[in-house]
Amino acid sequence: MFLDGYVVGITGRRLPLLESLAQELCTSEVNSTCFTAQFDLTNVIETKREFSALLERMKRVDIVIISSGVGSTDTAHLLDDELATIAVNVAGFTTISNLAYHYFCQQGVGHLVGISSVAAIRGGPFASYNASKAYMSSYLEGLSCRASLGNPNIVISDIRPGFVDTAMAKGEGLFWVASADTAAQQIYSSILAKHRVAYVTRRWRLVAILLRLLPTILYKKLT
Ligand SMILES: NC(=O)c1ccc[n+]([C@@H]2O[C@H](COP(=O)([O-])OP(=O)(O)OC[C@H]3O[C@@H](n4cnc5c(N)ncnc54)[C@H](OP(=O)(O)O)[C@@H]3O)[C@@H](O)[C@H]2O)c1
Repeated sequence: MFLDGYVVGITGRRLPLLESLAQELCTSEVNSTCFTAQFDLTNVIETKREFSALLERMKRVDIVIISSGVGSTDTAHLLDDELATIAVNVAGFTTISNLAYHYFCQQGVGHLVGISSVAAIRGGPFASYNASKAYMSSYLEGLSCRASLGNPNIVISDIRPGFVDTAMAKGEGLFWVASADTAAQQIYSSILAKHRVAYVTRRWRLVAILLRLLPTILYKKLT
């Protein structure tokens, strides 16, 4: 089990789910200590307050993993859906990344991990999702550049999954869909190896290279 013996903090909006996961992690088999914090990333004030309080309660935090993300596959492409994606994947993500980065600066060491996506590589028909993932990847690279200026013990990782079998993976034409367990295992290995950028599963690196090379006319046909 990934979290054996770790002190873990888990966050999200669904408190009953957080509490049952916390109970699972605290069993004698897993033997983790688990803290929970409920907040909605679209509420920046609440996010700042609750995340800072969680860091304080946990006393010391070495790794922050930002996995939360949303995306709409509604072909109506409505403004409200676009803004909802930006609120979580851009504003919420920036709030946690920034607070974690400053926390690690004060501590002198730390590892920030963002779960972006292969979708970061190019724009796509669900425009705000790809754009928000490109923002995440770019922001993480920026923090990595910043850390190298004066905080060499801060590591920044950008994990870019392809399709993973979760509630988010909807729609037609999905391929190479990894199970959540396989994806979690590879994300865990990449975090341990402190990779700057990692594709999950690994063969999605190939797709990323092809996506970059594909001329616009062919890319549009593909999407
Ligand atoms: N599944 C894929 O194929 C795939 C591919 C590439 C990248 N990704 C990325 O992987 C990450 C994890 O996605 P997933 O596949 O595990 O999707 P998921 O099962 O839909 O999980 C999304 C997570 O985001 C949290 N979340 C959503 N809105 C939130 C909000 N307003 N405030 C706080 N938390 C919020 C949810 O927790 P609560 O509902 O409890 O708040 C949930 O834990 C995402 O960033 C996604 O973009 C997924």
